[in-house]
Amino acid sequence: MKKTLAIAPMMDWTDRHCRFFHRQLTGRALLYTEMVVADAVIHGARERLLGFDDVEHPVALQLGGSDPAKLAEAARIGEAFGYDEINLNVGCPSDRVQSGTFGACLMKTPDLVAECVAAMKASVKIPVTVKCRIGVDDQDPEPALDTLADGVLAAGADALWVHARKAWLEGLSPKENRDIPPLDYARVYRLKARKPNEFIGINGGIQSLAEASAHLGHVDGVMLGRAAYHTPGILTGVDAAFYGEVAAAFDYPALIDAMAGYAARHIERGGRLGHITRHMVGLFHGLPGARRFRQILSTDANKPGAGPEVLKSAFAAIDFTAVEADAA
Ligand SMILES: Cc1cc2nc3c(=O)[nH]c(=O)nc-3n(C[C@H](O)[C@H](O)[C@H](O)COP(=O)(O)O)c2cc1C
Repeated sequence: MKKTLAIAPMMDWTDRHCRFFHRQLTGRALLYTEMVVADAVIHGARERLLGFDDVEHPVALQLGGSDPAKLAEAARIGEAFGYDEINLNVGCPSDRVQSGTFGACLMKTPDLVAECVAAMKASVKIPVTVKCRIGVDDQDPEPALDTLADGVLAAGADALWVHARKAWLEGLSPKENRDIPPLDYARVYRLKARKPNEFIGINGGIQSLAEASAHLGHVDGVMLGRAAYHTPGILTGVDAAFYGEVAAAFDYPALIDAMAGYAARHIERGGRLGHITRHMVGLFHGLPGARRFRQILSTDANKPGAGPEVLKSAFAAIDFTAVEADAA
Protein backbone atom coordinates (compact mmCIF):
# COMPACT_ATOMS: atom_id res chain seq x y z
CA MET A 1 0.00 0.00 0.00
CA LYS A 2 1.22 3.50 -0.82
CA LYS A 3 2.72 5.13 2.29
CA THR A 4 1.49 8.58 3.26
CA LEU A 5 2.94 11.34 5.38
CA ALA A 6 0.23 13.78 6.44
CA ILE A 7 0.05 17.02 8.38
CA ALA A 8 -2.76 16.86 10.92
CA PRO A 9 -5.92 18.98 10.94
CA MET A 10 -5.40 21.64 13.60
CA MET A 11 -8.05 24.22 14.42
CA ASP A 12 -6.83 27.82 14.16
CA TRP A 13 -3.45 26.52 12.91
CA THR A 14 -3.81 24.69 9.58
CA ASP A 15 -5.69 27.46 7.81
CA ARG A 16 -5.06 28.13 4.14
CA HIS A 17 -2.02 30.35 4.83
CA CYS A 18 -0.39 27.69 6.97
CA ARG A 19 -1.07 25.06 4.31
CA PHE A 20 0.35 27.24 1.56
CA PHE A 21 3.49 27.65 3.68
CA HIS A 22 3.76 23.93 4.44
CA ARG A 23 3.32 23.16 0.77
CA GLN A 24 6.43 25.20 -0.03
CA LEU A 25 8.36 22.90 2.33
CA THR A 26 7.02 19.61 1.02
CA GLY A 27 5.48 19.06 -2.38
CA ARG A 28 4.06 15.68 -1.44
CA ALA A 29 2.74 15.47 2.14
CA LEU A 30 -1.04 15.24 2.42
CA LEU A 31 -2.41 18.42 4.02
CA TYR A 32 -5.55 18.65 6.15
CA THR A 33 -7.75 21.67 6.77
CA GLU A 34 -8.95 22.71 10.18
CA MET A 35 -12.20 21.00 11.10
CA VAL A 36 -15.18 22.72 9.53
CA VAL A 37 -18.63 21.90 10.91
CA ALA A 38 -21.01 20.46 8.30
CA ASP A 39 -23.71 23.02 9.11
CA ALA A 40 -21.24 25.86 8.49
CA VAL A 41 -20.28 24.38 5.12
CA ILE A 42 -23.94 24.17 4.15
CA HIS A 43 -25.12 27.54 5.48
CA GLY A 44 -21.95 29.63 5.99
CA ALA A 45 -19.70 31.83 3.87
CA ARG A 46 -18.27 29.06 1.73
CA GLU A 47 -15.44 30.90 0.03
CA ARG A 48 -14.11 32.07 3.38
CA LEU A 49 -14.49 28.66 5.03
CA LEU A 50 -13.38 26.46 2.16
CA GLY A 51 -11.32 28.57 -0.24
CA PHE A 52 -7.76 27.39 -0.84
CA ASP A 53 -4.86 27.88 -3.23
CA ASP A 54 -4.31 25.46 -6.10
CA VAL A 55 -0.77 24.70 -4.95
CA GLU A 56 -2.13 23.12 -1.76
CA HIS A 57 -3.06 19.83 -3.46
CA PRO A 58 -3.24 17.16 -2.23
CA VAL A 59 -5.47 18.67 0.44
CA ALA A 60 -8.21 17.04 2.52
CA LEU A 61 -11.21 18.79 4.03
CA GLN A 62 -12.01 17.71 7.58
CA LEU A 63 -15.68 17.86 8.54
CA GLY A 64 -17.31 17.79 11.94
CA GLY A 65 -20.83 16.53 12.39
CA SER A 66 -22.98 13.51 13.09
CA ASP A 67 -25.96 13.93 10.80
CA PRO A 68 -25.47 11.63 7.78
CA ALA A 69 -27.53 13.78 5.41
CA LYS A 70 -25.76 17.01 6.39
CA LEU A 71 -22.34 15.38 6.19
CA ALA A 72 -23.20 14.00 2.75
CA GLU A 73 -24.22 17.48 1.60
CA ALA A 74 -21.11 19.11 3.10
CA ALA A 75 -18.89 16.45 1.51
CA ARG A 76 -20.47 17.11 -1.87
CA ILE A 77 -19.80 20.85 -1.48
CA GLY A 78 -16.19 20.11 -0.47
CA GLU A 79 -15.71 17.90 -3.52
CA ALA A 80 -17.11 20.64 -5.77
CA PHE A 81 -14.61 23.07 -4.23
CA GLY A 82 -11.83 20.79 -5.42
CA TYR A 83 -10.74 19.00 -2.25
CA ASP A 84 -8.95 15.70 -2.79
CA GLU A 85 -10.43 13.89 0.21
CA ILE A 86 -13.10 14.35 2.85
CA ASN A 87 -12.25 13.37 6.43
CA LEU A 88 -14.66 12.93 9.32
CA ASN A 89 -13.56 14.08 12.78
CA VAL A 90 -14.15 11.42 15.44
CA GLY A 91 -11.37 12.56 17.74
CA CYS A 92 -11.83 16.12 18.86
CA PRO A 93 -12.78 16.40 22.55
CA SER A 94 -13.63 20.08 22.96
CA ASP A 95 -16.78 21.05 24.89
CA ARG A 96 -18.16 23.02 22.03
CA VAL A 97 -17.81 20.01 19.81
CA GLN A 98 -19.31 17.64 22.40
CA SER A 99 -22.40 19.79 22.64
CA GLY A 100 -22.99 19.39 18.92
CA THR A 101 -22.57 15.58 19.17
CA PHE A 102 -19.53 15.18 17.10
CA GLY A 103 -15.83 14.60 17.49
CA ALA A 104 -14.49 12.05 19.97
CA CYS A 105 -17.81 11.31 21.68
CA LEU A 106 -18.85 9.58 18.45
CA MET A 107 -16.49 6.74 19.47
CA LYS A 108 -19.47 5.68 21.63
CA THR A 109 -21.84 5.44 18.66
CA PRO A 110 -19.90 3.49 16.04
CA ASP A 111 -23.05 2.55 14.09
CA LEU A 112 -23.88 6.23 13.60
CA VAL A 113 -20.32 6.94 12.43
CA ALA A 114 -20.60 4.10 9.92
CA GLU A 115 -23.91 5.54 8.71
CA CYS A 116 -22.24 8.95 8.26
CA VAL A 117 -19.42 7.40 6.25
CA ALA A 118 -21.85 5.46 4.06
CA ALA A 119 -23.82 8.64 3.35
CA MET A 120 -20.66 10.60 2.51
CA LYS A 121 -19.35 7.80 0.29
CA ALA A 122 -22.62 7.76 -1.59
CA SER A 123 -22.41 11.48 -2.30
CA VAL A 124 -18.81 11.91 -3.53
CA LYS A 125 -16.26 10.18 -5.75
CA ILE A 126 -13.18 11.34 -3.83
CA PRO A 127 -11.88 9.30 -0.87
CA VAL A 128 -13.72 9.55 2.43
CA THR A 129 -11.60 8.94 5.52
CA VAL A 130 -12.01 9.03 9.30
CA LYS A 131 -9.77 10.30 12.10
CA CYS A 132 -10.48 8.82 15.52
CA ARG A 133 -9.03 7.99 18.93
CA ILE A 134 -8.43 4.51 20.37
CA GLY A 135 -11.39 5.05 22.71
CA VAL A 136 -12.98 7.53 25.09
CA ASP A 137 -13.51 7.61 28.86
CA ASP A 138 -13.87 4.12 30.30
CA GLN A 139 -14.08 2.32 26.96
CA ASP A 140 -11.73 -0.64 26.54
CA PRO A 141 -9.65 0.32 23.46
CA GLU A 142 -9.50 -3.28 22.22
CA PRO A 143 -13.18 -3.66 21.31
CA ALA A 144 -13.85 0.11 21.00
CA LEU A 145 -11.32 0.70 18.22
CA ASP A 146 -12.06 -2.60 16.45
CA THR A 147 -15.79 -1.90 16.43
CA LEU A 148 -15.34 1.62 15.09
CA ALA A 149 -12.84 0.45 12.47
CA ASP A 150 -14.96 -2.51 11.35
CA GLY A 151 -17.99 -0.26 10.95
CA VAL A 152 -16.40 2.58 9.02
CA LEU A 153 -14.30 0.33 6.80
CA ALA A 154 -17.34 -1.83 5.96
CA ALA A 155 -19.16 1.42 5.11
CA GLY A 156 -16.44 2.18 2.58
CA ALA A 157 -13.99 4.47 4.41
CA ASP A 158 -10.81 4.69 2.37
CA ALA A 159 -8.52 5.23 5.35
CA LEU A 160 -8.63 5.34 9.11
CA TRP A 161 -6.25 7.65 10.95
CA VAL A 162 -5.92 6.86 14.64
CA HIS A 163 -4.67 9.30 17.27
CA ALA A 164 -3.11 6.64 19.47
CA ARG A 165 -4.54 7.71 22.81
CA LYS A 166 -7.95 7.89 24.44
CA ALA A 167 -9.84 11.13 24.91
CA TRP A 168 -11.18 11.68 28.40
CA LEU A 169 -14.31 13.71 27.84
CA GLU A 170 -14.83 14.68 31.48
CA GLY A 171 -12.33 16.81 33.33
CA LEU A 172 -9.59 17.42 30.76
CA SER A 173 -9.24 20.42 28.47
CA PRO A 174 -8.75 19.75 24.73
CA LYS A 175 -5.07 20.63 25.18
CA GLU A 176 -4.66 18.19 28.09
CA ASN A 177 -6.42 15.57 26.01
CA ARG A 178 -3.57 15.79 23.52
CA ASP A 179 -0.95 15.04 26.18
CA ILE A 180 -2.29 13.32 29.27
CA PRO A 181 -4.03 10.11 28.16
CA PRO A 182 -1.09 7.79 27.48
CA LEU A 183 -0.05 6.97 23.92
CA ASP A 184 -0.52 3.36 22.84
CA TYR A 185 1.07 2.88 19.43
CA ALA A 186 0.93 -0.91 19.81
CA ARG A 187 -2.87 -0.70 19.81
CA VAL A 188 -2.80 0.90 16.36
CA TYR A 189 -0.27 -1.64 15.09
CA ARG A 190 -2.61 -4.44 16.22
CA LEU A 191 -5.46 -2.84 14.29
CA LYS A 192 -3.28 -2.77 11.17
CA ALA A 193 -2.37 -6.45 11.70
CA ARG A 194 -6.10 -7.25 11.79
CA LYS A 195 -6.76 -5.14 8.68
CA PRO A 196 -3.81 -5.84 6.38
CA ASN A 197 -5.67 -4.67 3.27
CA GLU A 198 -6.98 -1.39 4.65
CA PHE A 199 -5.13 1.91 5.04
CA ILE A 200 -4.41 2.51 8.71
CA GLY A 201 -2.49 5.65 9.71
CA ILE A 202 -1.06 6.60 13.07
CA ASN A 203 -0.91 9.96 14.85
CA GLY A 204 0.07 11.35 18.23
CA GLY A 205 3.35 12.48 19.76
CA ILE A 206 5.49 11.76 16.70
CA GLN A 207 8.37 14.23 16.82
CA SER A 208 10.63 13.59 13.84
CA LEU A 209 10.87 12.05 10.39
CA ALA A 210 13.03 9.27 11.86
CA GLU A 211 10.20 8.35 14.24
CA ALA A 212 7.71 8.60 11.38
CA SER A 213 9.81 6.25 9.34
CA ALA A 214 9.90 3.69 12.15
CA HIS A 215 6.08 3.77 12.41
CA LEU A 216 5.79 3.15 8.69
CA GLY A 217 7.26 -0.27 9.33
CA HIS A 218 3.94 -1.10 11.05
CA VAL A 219 1.25 1.08 9.47
CA ASP A 220 0.48 2.81 6.16
CA GLY A 221 0.59 6.44 7.14
CA VAL A 222 1.98 8.85 9.70
CA MET A 223 0.31 12.12 10.60
CA LEU A 224 2.37 14.86 12.22
CA GLY A 225 0.62 17.62 14.14
CA ARG A 226 2.44 19.84 16.60
CA ALA A 227 5.95 18.83 15.47
CA ALA A 228 5.14 19.95 11.92
CA TYR A 229 3.63 23.20 13.15
CA HIS A 230 6.27 24.19 15.68
CA THR A 231 9.31 22.99 13.72
CA PRO A 232 8.18 23.20 10.09
CA GLY A 233 11.79 22.94 8.89
CA ILE A 234 11.51 19.15 9.34
CA LEU A 235 9.04 19.10 6.45
CA THR A 236 11.84 19.91 3.99
CA GLY A 237 13.00 16.29 4.37
CA VAL A 238 9.63 14.66 3.66
CA ASP A 239 9.75 14.33 -0.13
CA ALA A 240 13.13 12.59 -0.13
CA ALA A 241 12.48 10.45 2.96
CA PHE A 242 8.99 9.19 2.05
CA TYR A 243 8.33 9.85 -1.63
CA GLY A 244 11.58 8.78 -3.29
CA GLU A 245 12.57 12.24 -4.47
CA VAL A 246 16.22 13.14 -4.77
CA ALA A 247 17.49 14.82 -1.62
CA ALA A 248 18.70 18.34 -2.34
CA ALA A 249 19.66 21.35 -0.25
CA PHE A 250 16.48 23.29 0.45
CA ASP A 251 16.30 26.69 -1.23
CA TYR A 252 15.36 29.00 1.64
CA PRO A 253 15.73 32.27 -0.30
CA ALA A 254 13.26 30.91 -2.88
CA LEU A 255 10.89 29.96 -0.04
CA ILE A 256 11.03 33.46 1.43
CA ASP A 257 10.43 34.95 -2.04
CA ALA A 258 7.42 32.69 -2.54
CA MET A 259 6.00 33.59 0.87
CA ALA A 260 6.66 37.31 0.33
CA GLY A 261 4.83 37.15 -3.03
CA TYR A 262 1.95 35.27 -1.44
CA ALA A 263 1.82 37.83 1.39
CA ALA A 264 1.78 40.73 -1.08
CA ARG A 265 -1.24 39.18 -2.85
CA HIS A 266 -2.99 38.58 0.48
CA ILE A 267 -2.37 42.17 1.62
CA GLU A 268 -3.64 43.50 -1.71
CA ARG A 269 -6.91 41.70 -1.04
CA GLY A 270 -7.17 43.39 2.37
CA GLY A 271 -5.39 40.78 4.50
CA ARG A 272 -2.57 41.28 6.98
CA LEU A 273 1.02 40.05 6.90
CA GLY A 274 0.64 38.58 10.38
CA HIS A 275 -2.06 36.16 9.16
CA ILE A 276 0.68 34.41 7.23
CA THR A 277 3.85 34.96 9.24
CA ARG A 278 2.33 33.70 12.50
CA HIS A 279 2.68 30.19 11.06
CA MET A 280 6.34 30.73 10.19
CA VAL A 281 7.89 31.69 13.54
CA GLY A 282 9.37 28.22 14.16
CA LEU A 283 10.88 27.86 10.68
CA PHE A 284 14.52 28.29 11.66
CA HIS A 285 14.26 26.62 15.06
CA GLY A 286 17.77 25.80 16.29
CA LEU A 287 19.67 27.92 13.74
CA PRO A 288 21.74 30.99 14.60
CA GLY A 289 19.45 34.02 14.26
CA ALA A 290 16.25 32.02 14.84
CA ARG A 291 15.40 34.04 17.92
CA ARG A 292 15.66 37.34 16.06
CA PHE A 293 13.60 35.89 13.17
CA ARG A 294 10.90 34.85 15.63
CA GLN A 295 10.98 38.23 17.38
CA ILE A 296 10.57 40.21 14.16
CA LEU A 297 7.68 38.00 13.04
CA SER A 298 5.99 38.26 16.44
CA THR A 299 6.28 42.06 16.63
CA ASP A 300 6.98 44.03 13.44
CA ALA A 301 4.98 41.67 11.22
CA ASN A 302 1.85 42.42 13.25
CA LYS A 303 2.14 46.20 13.08
CA PRO A 304 -0.46 48.01 10.99
CA GLY A 305 0.71 48.34 7.40
CA ALA A 306 3.47 45.71 7.70
CA GLY A 307 4.43 44.43 4.26
CA PRO A 308 6.43 41.53 2.82
CA GLU A 309 9.70 43.41 3.37
CA VAL A 310 9.33 42.62 7.09
CA LEU A 311 9.56 38.94 6.25
CA LYS A 312 12.67 39.58 4.18
CA SER A 313 14.35 41.52 6.97
CA ALA A 314 13.52 38.75 9.45
CA PHE A 315 15.09 36.25 7.06
CA ALA A 316 18.25 38.38 6.87
CA ALA A 317 18.77 37.65 10.59
CA ILE A 318 19.45 33.97 9.88
CA ASP A 319 23.12 33.11 9.68
CA PHE A 320 23.37 30.22 7.21
CA THR A 321 27.17 30.45 7.03
CA ALA A 322 27.37 29.23 10.61
CA VAL A 323 25.38 26.14 9.60
CA GLU A 324 27.56 25.53 6.56
CA ALA A 325 30.70 25.91 8.68
CA ASP A 326 29.21 23.44 11.17
CA ALA A 327 28.51 20.91 8.46
CA ALA A 328 32.01 21.22 6.92
C1 LIG B 1 -4.10 23.59 18.01
C2 LIG B 1 -4.64 22.22 17.67
C3 LIG B 1 -5.86 22.12 17.01
C4 LIG B 1 -6.37 20.87 16.66
N1 LIG B 1 -7.53 20.79 15.93
C5 LIG B 1 -7.95 19.59 15.44
C6 LIG B 1 -9.03 19.49 14.53
O1 LIG B 1 -9.62 20.49 14.10
N2 LIG B 1 -9.40 18.24 14.12
C7 LIG B 1 -8.75 17.11 14.54
O2 LIG B 1 -9.10 16.01 14.12
N3 LIG B 1 -7.72 17.19 15.39
C8 LIG B 1 -7.29 18.38 15.84
N4 LIG B 1 -6.17 18.46 16.63
C9 LIG B 1 -5.47 17.22 16.98
C10 LIG B 1 -4.35 16.91 15.97
O3 LIG B 1 -4.90 16.67 14.68
C11 LIG B 1 -3.55 15.67 16.42
O4 LIG B 1 -4.41 14.57 16.46
C12 LIG B 1 -2.91 15.87 17.79
O5 LIG B 1 -2.29 17.13 17.91
C13 LIG B 1 -1.88 14.76 18.08
O6 LIG B 1 -0.85 14.77 17.12
P1 LIG B 1 0.59 15.45 17.43
O7 LIG B 1 1.08 14.87 18.74
O8 LIG B 1 1.45 15.07 16.26
O9 LIG B 1 0.36 16.92 17.56
C14 LIG B 1 -5.65 19.69 17.00
C15 LIG B 1 -4.42 19.81 17.66
C16 LIG B 1 -3.90 21.07 17.99
C17 LIG B 1 -2.55 21.15 18.65
